[in-house]
Amino acid sequence: MTSRRPLTGAFIALEGGDGAGKSTQLEMLAAALRRRGLVDTAGRPDLVLTREPGGTQVGQEIRQTLLHGGEVAPVAEALLYAADRAQHVAAVVLPALERGAVVLTDRYLDSSIAYQVEGRGLTEAQVRGMNAYATGGLLPHLTVLLDIDPKEAALRQAASGGPLDRMERAGLGFHQRVNARYRSLMAADPERYAVVNAAQPPEVVHSQVLASVMAILADLGLAELPGSARRGKHARPAGARVAVAAAAGHAAAAGVTGPAAQAGAGQPGQGLGSGGRRVAQ
Ligand code: TYD
Repeated sequence: MTSRRPLTGAFIALEGGDGAGKSTQLEMLAAALRRRGLVDTAGRPDLVLTREPGGTQVGQEIRQTLLHGGEVAPVAEALLYAADRAQHVAAVVLPALERGAVVLTDRYLDSSIAYQVEGRGLTEAQVRGMNAYATGGLLPHLTVLLDIDPKEAALRQAASGGPLDRMERAGLGFHQRVNARYRSLMAADPERYAVVNAAQPPEVVHSQVLASVMAILADLGLAELPGSARRGKHARPAGARVAVAAAAGHAAAAGVTGPAAQAGAGQPGQGLGSGGRRVAQ
């Protein structure tokens, strides 16, 4: 997949097991970024809040099949998630990144690695291969992992009282393997991740998530951290973007574990390479 234009935006994914509180945290993050006046170069708000599966109309139908239909064979399941992702990237994510938006997605590729590899027994090479084809190798600048013990997550889900979908019903063993896989993905490639303990109170989780995101936006030249000497190695010319004040301060100060909060992500649109985020897989 070749981009028609450079990818000048920022691509951020939130990941975690079921019951980690991703949806709530994504809403809180989006609200905080909006309050800080994140705007595009034309002065319009340009923050895209999206999700997988189901970030497009086609994706909605795939989501329905995956979560509320009958049993799906493991390979079919993996291909359906990849198909949802292909449509999501083509119709939502790439156009937004091309126009310089900040894209926040509730789940992306790592969900497939965690759930379909660890949970369904496919090999990592199989899942990475089908997703490289689906996405053209597009990776987020930053993936924030909301880390939670699956037992604690199950208690939360039980307390919320809602019906469980097909994935949520898969059992504690499944979710423990998924969680372990998330952790090992992070350990293997810490520059791509910030890991936040999701068992903390929501406001604490939020401030840590926000700090890690602000740090990466600063590295990309899309925001400035007040009082910070850091200059993003991919910073744009002054005035290209409105500065975003980061009340939460630096990620490291906020106790985010994992060095992704300080990592310089790669340069969007630079072609295949390490980071930024068309990456050959
Ligand atoms: P999610 O929308 O987070 O669930 P909910 O709306 O109930 O919080 O995700 C739906 C389910 O799909 C979740 O159990 C994880 C699973 N999933 C995969 O197995 N692979 C994937 O690639 C993705 C994106 C999600």
